[in-house]
Amino acid sequence: VELEILPAGDGDRPRLEALWGLYVYDWSEILGLDVEEDGRFDLPSLDEWFGDPGRRRFLFRVDGKWAGFALIDSRSHLSGEAGVLDMSEFFVLRKYRRCGLGERAAGQLFDRFRGRWEVRERRENRAAAQFWRRIIGRYTGGRFTDEELDDDRWRGPVQRFDNG
Ligand SMILES: CC(C)(COP(=O)(O)OP(=O)(O)OC[C@H]1O[C@@H](n2cnc3c(N)ncnc32)[C@H](O)[C@@H]1OP(=O)(O)O)[C@@H](O)C(=O)NCCC(=O)NCCS
Repeated sequence: VELEILPAGDGDRPRLEALWGLYVYDWSEILGLDVEEDGRFDLPSLDEWFGDPGRRRFLFRVDGKWAGFALIDSRSHLSGEAGVLDMSEFFVLRKYRRCGLGERAAGQLFDRFRGRWEVRERRENRAAAQFWRRIIGRYTGGRFTDEELDDDRWRGPVQRFDNG
């Protein structure tokens, strides 16, 4: 299958917001979120992701169909340090899962931005931790660290590597 990783511009915002809603629905199972009285999830705003050049947005397209997204920040969410790449959000639509698409998309994004990377998973999201450990292990040939944080910065695993 053909995978394209496309930067999401302002005109893609409604599309990214629609996919964001599906991501939050996936999270609802893990975090026990309910919908509001109007039947919708209270979605975290994407405002901070638009209009800041250090924050990058990508859409995944497979054979001409939307298949997921990634949000990448160029500052550490743990220390605030600039120049550290943070894989902030990452999502593959269900029909495309478990066939290597997430691994390909992540690998292409790692290749696109060189330097120190941090990838974080919430403690509750065990499947994500398995996915990231597996694919970062392959991508780096095992040259990454894997630390479990449990403090105000983050609660869950963090993988770090440098592909600079
Ligand atoms: C996590 C997610 C991105 C994985 O995407 P995917 O396209 O299904 O992953 P791939 O098919 O590329 O899998 C790559 C490797 O990870 C493993 N993996 C993928 N999903 C897994 C899961 N749910 N549990 C355990 N391992 C998993 C695969 O087995 C594969 O390893 P293998 O080739 O050695 O078997 C996808 O399930 C998703 O979007 N989940 C919801 C959102 C989310 O949790 N995002 C991450 C936030 S930190």
